[in-house]
Amino acid sequence: MSDANAGPLEGRVIAIAGATGGLGPSVARACAAAGATIALADRDAGKLDELVADLELPQYRVDSHVVDLLDEEATRAWCAALVARFGSVSGVAHLVGGWRGGEPLETAPLEDWAFLHDLLVRTVQHTSRAFSASLLASGHGRFVLVSSKQAQAPTHTNAAYAAAKAAAEAWTLALADGFATATAEGSGKATANVVVVDAIATPAMREGKGEDAFRTFTDAEDLASAICGVCGDGASAMNGQRVQLHGGSRR
Ligand SMILES: NC(=O)c1ccc[n+]([C@@H]2O[C@H](COP(=O)([O-])OP(=O)(O)OC[C@H]3O[C@@H](n4cnc5c(N)ncnc54)[C@H](OP(=O)(O)O)[C@@H]3O)[C@@H](O)[C@H]2O)c1
Repeated sequence: MSDANAGPLEGRVIAIAGATGGLGPSVARACAAAGATIALADRDAGKLDELVADLELPQYRVDSHVVDLLDEEATRAWCAALVARFGSVSGVAHLVGGWRGGEPLETAPLEDWAFLHDLLVRTVQHTSRAFSASLLASGHGRFVLVSSKQAQAPTHTNAAYAAAKAAAEAWTLALADGFATATAEGSGKATANVVVVDAIATPAMREGKGEDAFRTFTDAEDLASAICGVCGDGASAMNGQRVQLHGGSRR
């Protein structure tokens, strides 16, 4: 008999890569409220402990690992530890972020590109390669990348950031293609999608600011609830899509 009070993500394990940043806590709270077990990874143990305490989940519904997602072996070990503990992983929200830019491309230091490539592309390569088999095996796997509208509409002073985000998007769409093939062949079921924003406004950023502040930004809670929706059964047919969550700000 099904539990009428069960949330839409009951029984799912959602891994959050880059969990203690601006968006991570909102995604963790939204997925937890939908019934998911939450598996957090970031590189700062103190911030992870704080987030685990804030979530106030029973121990069996939360997991946290200090992982340098630039280390592929460490990323694979994180996935293996989750599968060993929970049996499967149903979703990965890849939230690793950061920014360099602000100078015209003719004079911007090319080191910015190396930094952003590692941060925004290499970490996606590592999480997608580490988790793809587990996501497929779960029967309802989800990989979600949060991207920037810069990837398709780059500005002159954001060339490296835009190019890195475009590469991360292409990688995620290639993952989606692999998932479609595997699903058609009957060797599991998973999807990969990209959610696109202009910029994110966190609750802390909004504190004490008027209604007009961050007008073009997407609220972290709105974005979190969209990510949660993508992880649910209602989005099982959505694969390889770029979902745009900007331009319709409610403020
Ligand atoms: N914020 C925006 O306005 C915006 C706009 C468009 C798209 N996005 C995208 O949305 C997602 C979430 O954004 P956000 O602002 O929440 O990102 P963020 O706070 O900049 O980064 C998220 C977390 O990733 C961690 N991280 C960085 N490198 C790592 C590594 N090697 N191993 C493990 N953890 C690592 C960061 O730790 P540290 O704090 O130690 O670096 C941080 O806690 C990102 O993918 C971002 O690119 C954001």
